[in-house]
Amino acid sequence: MTVPARPLAPDAVPLDTDRFHTDPVPLYRELRHRHGSVVPVLLPSDIPAWLVIGYREVHRVSGDADTYTRDPARWNQWASVPADWPLLPLIAPRGASLLHTVGTAHARRATVLSDALEAVEPGELRRHTERIADALVDDFGLDGRADLVAAYTARLPFLVLAELFGLPADEAPELGDALRRGMASGAAANRARGLLVETMRRLLAARRAAPGADVPSRVLAASPGAGETELAEDLAVLFAAGHLPTADWLGNTLRLMLTDARYAASDAGGRLGVERAMNEVLWRDTPTQTVVGRWATRDVQLGPRQLRAGDLLLLGLQGANGDPLVHGTSAPVATAAALYGLSGLVSEPGPVPEPVAGGPANSAYLSFGHGERRCPFPAQEIAETVTRTGAEVLLDRLPDIELSVAAEELTYRPSSWLRGLDALPTRFAPVAGRR
Ligand code: HEM
Repeated sequence: MTVPARPLAPDAVPLDTDRFHTDPVPLYRELRHRHGSVVPVLLPSDIPAWLVIGYREVHRVSGDADTYTRDPARWNQWASVPADWPLLPLIAPRGASLLHTVGTAHARRATVLSDALEAVEPGELRRHTERIADALVDDFGLDGRADLVAAYTARLPFLVLAELFGLPADEAPELGDALRRGMASGAAANRARGLLVETMRRLLAARRAAPGADVPSRVLAASPGAGETELAEDLAVLFAAGHLPTADWLGNTLRLMLTDARYAASDAGGRLGVERAMNEVLWRDTPTQTVVGRWATRDVQLGPRQLRAGDLLLLGLQGANGDPLVHGTSAPVATAAALYGLSGLVSEPGPVPEPVAGGPANSAYLSFGHGERRCPFPAQEIAETVTRTGAEVLLDRLPDIELSVAAEELTYRPSSWLRGLDALPTRFAPVAGRR
């Protein structure tokens, strides 16, 4: 039986509002002003959690695995969570993937996955990506118009990963569809996950019999004695964690280049623009808006808030990236207050400005996480190659591409977790295939 949940603070904010999906930047500004760097939020069924949006606080939480664990068994709200709670697949999935293992077991499995990705040869990856991107453009190039999300950005990372995994071509379409539908939470996510794990089991059985030069074969070779379930779960995590944010990184980058006059997407020679746009997206429009999660292992003070052992923390990466503290745009009083963990609790400074355009040219954003559970470096490099190559091939092949709707008509999927477009309708002069 579930018991009613109690908010962590009386002024808790429902997380599942339209504003998190549409234009979160002003919302984070308001939240920071009203609540400071650690915001009390309510998840569905009024289950309480903390949304951490201070750069320094996200850094601290992700860098201290002893105080902030990834183990959902610590949660102090389990008695209030309904059996059919829509966020269960996200927060505490059944199964045994490395995402919810901790300590040395996690370190061992994360190293195996990271090494398997590190062995991907960069030149070969770029060639694979170019070939697949060209083939996708061939498929819609003659039409003179395309929704880039359905026809390109939601397919390219998936097909590149399928190649790296040695996934048979006839299995790819069904799995790709399931993953796209599974971007929503709830039943679709459960089905997508089930299909993905089953596919990885079959792939592992095939590679045990006949190893190849692919990711599953390398994971098998590096994991003597590991059970089939553990390996299938970890490969499924690798595939989903690779496909979903990379698809949105590419989509959000193309959106920026097609809507912002500073990026001359229609210039065939706009290659410098691609890297700049990718960087700006990670600062201002990151795919990984909010990461689930960490649980406090003891009563602890975080910024302005006193947490209890077992409280759930959501890492607000987009909020942290926009923290005025890292952009040097805040008033001195607000900066000092934030440094001492008081931001938002002082009445003095008024609304704190968030950065307005661009973002620093450096890569100090938290979009790939931080600490021992951050996105593995070889994964980041693969995502970067796929996104950069995907954007470059598209702009090379369709140099006059432009939006076919007004920029204000573009909408984002209703998710507080991953930020990506529903559709990116475009038009261009038809081009013949290269194949
Ligand atoms: C080929 C592409 C990618 C692969 C294979 C990949 C894989 C992974 C894996 C396996 C983890 C779990 C690490 C662990 O628990 O030890 C992870 C974490 C993470 N990834 Fe990636 N990833 C990819 C692309 C991306 C992209 C494009 C982004 C964002 C722009 C991203 C953001 C993150 C973040 C924020 C975490 C950390 C979550 C946390 O702190 O709990 N990843 N990634």
